[in-house]
Amino acid sequence: MLKTKEILDEKDKRLHQKSKEVIFPLTDEDKKVINDAIEYLTNSQIEELAEKYDLRPGMGLAAPQVGILKRYFVVVHEYEPGKFKNYVLINPKIISNSIEKIYVDSGEGCLSVNRDVEGIVPRYARVTIEARDINGNKITVRGREELAIAFQHEIDHLDGIIFTDRIDKKDPYKDMDNMRAI
Ligand code: NI
Repeated sequence: MLKTKEILDEKDKRLHQKSKEVIFPLTDEDKKVINDAIEYLTNSQIEELAEKYDLRPGMGLAAPQVGILKRYFVVVHEYEPGKFKNYVLINPKIISNSIEKIYVDSGEGCLSVNRDVEGIVPRYARVTIEARDINGNKITVRGREELAIAFQHEIDHLDGIIFTDRIDKKDPYKDMDNMRAI
């Protein structure tokens, strides 16, 4: 199983680089990363397992966070208490987005950022993403609310952007009144 300490910290330069498009078929390493990420993210959202295995709760992990500079990520979304849906998106692109913007009221989090961060991260309330699945088939996925935020956060990782980069340094709560808190 993936260990918390194997996830790169924000200081690692690999988290600030742009990742490369995936060429199919996936390598065995990529398949392992995907399966490990699904396992980690699912267990991390189940309190007793998170404690048992010392996992930090998280819903998304992008390949660069384990040192692989390729364009894919995994999101495990708890859509109902105790019910999870896995998203594995490869070579994702946002093809449309809402005008409405939202932000996480309690602050966005990241498995690579181990500190408290002040400020809000503006995100689209809804996004439509075109990507490939693990077999290379084209898929279209829609996300709203926290799922939309997770998708945007993970795509940012593929471009070498960490959520803290999106917080206005001088005015961390800038434009807050023009956005909806979730
Ligand atoms: Ni992150």
